[in-house]
Amino acid sequence: MCGIISYCGNRQAIPILIDGLKRLEYRGYDSAGLSTVDKNKMVTIKTVGKVSQLENKTAGTRINSSFGIAHTRWATHGKPSETNAHPQTDCHNKISIVHNGIIENYLELKEELQNKGHQFKSQTDTEVIAHLIEDNYENDLEVAIIKSVERLVGTFGIAVIHTDYKHQIFIVKRGSPIIIGIGDNEFFAASDSNALAPYTHKMVYLSDDEIAVLNSNRFYIKNMKNEILEKKIEILDEDEYKMDKKGYEHYMLKEIFEQPESIKNAFRGRIILNEGVSKLGGLEPVLGRLKNIKKLIIVSCGTSYHAGLLGRYIFETLTELDIEIELASEFRYRRLKLNEDVAVLAISQSGETADTLAAIKEAKRKGALLLGIVNAVGTSIAQITDAGVYNHAGPEIGVASTKIYTSQLVIITLIALFIGRYQTVSFIEGSELLTALKKLPDQIKDILKNAKQIEKIALRYAHFKNFLYIGRLYNYPTAMEGALKLKEISYAHAEGYPAGEMKHGPISLIDENFPTIAIVPKDSTYDKMINNIQEIRARSGRILSITNDGEDKIKNISDDLILVPQTLSILQPILNIIPLQLFAYYIAKEKGCDVDKPRNLAKSVTVE
Ligand code: M6R
Repeated sequence: MCGIISYCGNRQAIPILIDGLKRLEYRGYDSAGLSTVDKNKMVTIKTVGKVSQLENKTAGTRINSSFGIAHTRWATHGKPSETNAHPQTDCHNKISIVHNGIIENYLELKEELQNKGHQFKSQTDTEVIAHLIEDNYENDLEVAIIKSVERLVGTFGIAVIHTDYKHQIFIVKRGSPIIIGIGDNEFFAASDSNALAPYTHKMVYLSDDEIAVLNSNRFYIKNMKNEILEKKIEILDEDEYKMDKKGYEHYMLKEIFEQPESIKNAFRGRIILNEGVSKLGGLEPVLGRLKNIKKLIIVSCGTSYHAGLLGRYIFETLTELDIEIELASEFRYRRLKLNEDVAVLAISQSGETADTLAAIKEAKRKGALLLGIVNAVGTSIAQITDAGVYNHAGPEIGVASTKIYTSQLVIITLIALFIGRYQTVSFIEGSELLTALKKLPDQIKDILKNAKQIEKIALRYAHFKNFLYIGRLYNYPTAMEGALKLKEISYAHAEGYPAGEMKHGPISLIDENFPTIAIVPKDSTYDKMINNIQEIRARSGRILSITNDGEDKIKNISDDLILVPQTLSILQPILNIIPLQLFAYYIAKEKGCDVDKPRNLAKSVTVE
């Protein structure tokens, strides 16, 4: 989704801004632009499409400036166009602004400003901020910005420059992430630490309603009461944001192949085998409260929601808690009884998903204990939660989440065991689970060795337009996630269903052109899954089975079969999803789709 990068220092700004934008490209966007001040004039260059096009446009301009703001836009208000791209400017082209988030009361403000004579050029909500600052400006830009943001309803991370304030950038945050990067006599601001990786590892995370003012040799941060704040400088580990395809054709493929390592990173140092328990330092501060909770509600979106869906079964198996799982975007509409007996667990790769953030803010208001499973260190969800566990899976650049999903499942299992061992789970059960967990990386390596065979199978399915994915119990979420992977990157229509529900509707879709991907582990669901496959075959449906049973019973009724190693039922989904990720990848590649940046999607969804 939208990305911001700003630079203020002694070097030429444009190459740094362009480079930063390129590092934000993976988030998904449709247009890009930048502003700087050269010879006392605001210079703004924008384009629809790729950052490389913006780079070409800046190439012949000979701009000489060492500060500026830049943006990649993912359209919300107004279609992708040069006019609607950011930066947006005021009437006199003195103020320029880039913005992430949504201004909910922009129409009302726009009308008010138009009545005062302001001329608007774009259809964006962002432009209203530039005009509002212009309207509030007397002789102090900082004061004008503070006055203006007080009027804004919604979420924003903004960066503002003014032709009269050379070498100064004003940053404000409410709801959308902004990080300040600290270099040697140079400062940066970005919506994502990845954009700053080549320049500095020293970061300060702004909290809501804080304003940062950067210039080339100093910066300060204030709250809205004009008080200077002492903020902690975080040093980010290089591995947290290394962006490199390492010879793989796509980030997604690389990330699928990184799973043996990302899973190890999820449990490294978190297992005490001889006590059959997990050790989660991030939860220790709330241990007293955690031991007393009666109910856990998991909130998340997309792939993280599927991890939560499986989490419900995992927590039910390992703990005595009442478990609910809710889509973060729906959570706020419910009249849930939240109190100190309830913990709300947010699961989010990016740590910035607006729906999840809104859900946990709601839960906080009502007194629940907030827990998080987050990959991106220091992000909003990580900051707001009372305690949590980081994935430590490294950056995930492909928009389709792969390695984070399996990493989330490992961490959910560790949290459930952590709680369960204070309840009824025995030492033996805990040890068995952890022993099986430790074997997963090698078992995944075995699956990945068959990637070529999975590719061959995938190519036989690439021409189909519709797919049904079915599974039961622990593998119902696997079916959902397998279908999501295929639809988001290959644009084929795919539905994930609990297999038992098939006969209540989706079976009417089945014919020879509507294949089914059946997830058939050798567990308590096996016989029922075999029955479902028979029902599909009776309607001429083609079947690809993902199973750990190589026997004739399943072979004879499947058109294609992918074998995965066997583990405990509760962990089997972590293995079963790997061939489905590869299946989706190879189909999307065969269809010539932009695998890492599927159309209309963004990596970090920062609007509700
Ligand atoms: O960053 P989050 O985990 O909170 O993101 C949630 C979803 O937007 C995300 O999982 C999305 O569904 C992915 N594109 C799935 O591959």
